[in-house]
Amino acid sequence: MTKNIIVTGGAGYIGSHTVVELVESGFNPIIIDNFSNSNPKIIARIEKICKQKIKIYNLNCVDEKKLITNIPWNEVDGVIHFAAYKSVADSFKKKQEYFLNNIESTKILLNIIKKFNVNSFVFSSSCTVYGNPDQLPVTEKTKTKTPSSPYGETKKICEELIQSSEITNYTILRYFNPIGAHESSLIGEESKNTPNNLVPLICECAIGKRKNLTIYGNDYSTKDGTCIRDYIHVCDVAKAHVHALKNMMNCNLNHKTLNIGLSKGISVLELITLFEQNNNVNINYDFGKRREGDIEKIYADCSLAKKELKWKPKKTITDALIDAWNWEKEKNLLI
Ligand code: UFG
Repeated sequence: MTKNIIVTGGAGYIGSHTVVELVESGFNPIIIDNFSNSNPKIIARIEKICKQKIKIYNLNCVDEKKLITNIPWNEVDGVIHFAAYKSVADSFKKKQEYFLNNIESTKILLNIIKKFNVNSFVFSSSCTVYGNPDQLPVTEKTKTKTPSSPYGETKKICEELIQSSEITNYTILRYFNPIGAHESSLIGEESKNTPNNLVPLICECAIGKRKNLTIYGNDYSTKDGTCIRDYIHVCDVAKAHVHALKNMMNCNLNHKTLNIGLSKGISVLELITLFEQNNNVNINYDFGKRREGDIEKIYADCSLAKKELKWKPKKTITDALIDAWNWEKEKNLLI
């Protein structure tokens, strides 16, 4: 029988791509999203890609009462929890709101999962839990540190809550830097807030929405002075969730916390050059001061995820940059 999977934040960036992957793998995704940072029109576009209707509950994940009364939890086979505030910069200004929203929603879902005996839980975490790592690439055994932002702190606290909960069938996925968009150009990064992640900003420069990009710091101890990150196509990140669910449902997952990246560290300047070369556009940039909370270099060792999930990224950084640019051009034309 088709398995019902609740996807909180399913209208968001990684959530929407995961909904598509779930349908393609024969699951029935059910979205919970209050569109606080997403566009309600995305649902119709997900349905267009999937060629089927998707059930959506417009609910806030901190409203336990409504979650319990509206959703038929007895029919739910798994939960993927994306819904969270995610702007690093914003989290410094709204620390309390970030703590309340991100931590409370996770607590509530853990209670519900326990109460209704839901089989599997996947949590959306981040490499931010490694803070400024002492060794590279980071493995899951690399010591976690105090994250460099309140957003990061919420992810670390949520991981601890899950690990100390009575729920045993869970997978925590620590994403590195998801970029790109679905190849249909029907869904992609579409936050309501002004973007502050690198690739959406590069795209806005390329299309002329902004005059130039400020690179935060060129005095890091890296090959060209700019920060190193591990960028991975969002569809590969989405697929990792489906693999995690399948593994939990077949009861053969040993490690519960897994890094999800491409395992390739590249600098900001290298990423910009790749974008320019592959999309045939010029990006105007200048160098500014370092950004508060930025880590100098981080990239993943994902061998454990590859082994445990039988997953591996299929797309390259170039694929992701081409898809990101196509999405930027298309999204303004979409209704
Ligand atoms: N950058 C610039 N200029 C910009 C924006 C970004 O130079 O205008 C640089 C940053 O300094 C950084 C790199 O581009 O070196 C990537 O920055 P992003 O904002 O795209 O991504 P981050 O690595 O800062 O953040 C990501 C996720 C967070 C997560 C964090 C963990 O977006 O959710 O990784 O390190 F918490």
